[in-house]
Amino acid sequence: MSMLLTIDDLKQQARRRVPKMFFDYADSGAWTESTYRANEEDFGKIKLRQRVLVDMDNRSLASTMIGEDVSMPVALAPTGSTGMQHADGEMLAAQAAEEFGVPFTLSTMSICSIEDVASVTKKPFWFQLYVMRDKDFVLNLIDRAKAAKCSALVLTLDLQILAQRHKDVRNGLSAPPKLTLPNLIDMAIRPGWCFGMLGTKRRTFRNIVGHAKGVGDLASLSSWTNEQFDPRLSWDDVEWIRQRWGGKLILKGILDKEDAALAAKTGADAIIISNHGGRQLDGAPSSIAVLEQIVDTVGDKIEVHMDGGIRSGQDVLKALCLGAKGTYIGRPFLYGLGAAGKKGVTLALEIIRKELDLTLALCGKRDIKDVGKDMLYR
Ligand SMILES: Cc1cc2nc3c(=O)[nH]c(=O)nc-3n(C[C@H](O)[C@H](O)[C@H](O)COP(=O)(O)O)c2cc1C
Repeated sequence: MSMLLTIDDLKQQARRRVPKMFFDYADSGAWTESTYRANEEDFGKIKLRQRVLVDMDNRSLASTMIGEDVSMPVALAPTGSTGMQHADGEMLAAQAAEEFGVPFTLSTMSICSIEDVASVTKKPFWFQLYVMRDKDFVLNLIDRAKAAKCSALVLTLDLQILAQRHKDVRNGLSAPPKLTLPNLIDMAIRPGWCFGMLGTKRRTFRNIVGHAKGVGDLASLSSWTNEQFDPRLSWDDVEWIRQRWGGKLILKGILDKEDAALAAKTGADAIIISNHGGRQLDGAPSSIAVLEQIVDTVGDKIEVHMDGGIRSGQDVLKALCLGAKGTYIGRPFLYGLGAAGKKGVTLALEIIRKELDLTLALCGKRDIKDVGKDMLYR
């Protein structure tokens, strides 16, 4: 573990430990993956101003996201099938986030259920909602998240319809995964992962199976997930969801300033600028490329968060300088989880915290709440 120094080190370790179909599921974008790549590459184009001979002592990364205290403004993004990167993955990642003092967001498409995660955590976590055609199921999910005392609902807007990731098709990744001979051999040569999976009962989408109408087993799950995302989701739906939920609401998946302006009128507490980690509209701009114009459009009306492509504390700092109040990491924590379970998620957060803290100092600032565009070359 001591030589795992960067998020990329965690990625390479996860590649060795996690079966290819699940590693590829994380490390992939839609079609040509151009937006997936741009998310990371565009951060590299932003340059920081080095400052010297200013007091760099007593630094603070503490901040708030939607009014909640965070030890640094970096939350764990909702990611589906996290429990396939490592047995009980969502429960472990939620515990790591809780101990670190940052929010954990549980996906609708998680392996561990809302109740599983609630049973191993003490503080409230956030729940991400996909709106399905089956509205009774959606209402029930909202009520379950309330019963589990989730402190925010993250409503994902950019997956009314599923784009295609070629790697998943080639690997036979479906719900349930196709257990072809190559897939079985690939799993067998990763005994650590296999023993973990054999030691848990959590191997299917536990928010869904046994809860959605007609989904009692793995076979029925496949057709249900393929058909259920609601292509008619509209701004009107945001209103009834907001009312039913009644708590803090975050709208995820905004990439255009006109949509941001509409989102700001809904009464939601925050938006997440996101292209789903490059997994939906290939050819869309990176999140960091549109952040500034969206903050200029709605930054005084609604809290603006962003995700996509963050691979270091420096990336976090750049997003904050351009006006984000909070950021999220998806793949970085998944790679940590795949590499070393809960310890790996903690390590991913520690790597980012250390880079963020040192970069803040080298830019001549002491408090993360004081950062701004003046710290960047323009
Ligand atoms: C493997 C994987 C699964 C994802 N599943 C979901 C999901 O279930 N719900 C959701 O809103 N976003 C999902 N996302 C998108 C993430 O929430 C987030 O927007 C994205 O990962 C951020 O980019 P990054 O991975 O470069 O940090 C997923 C992303 C990945 C990589």
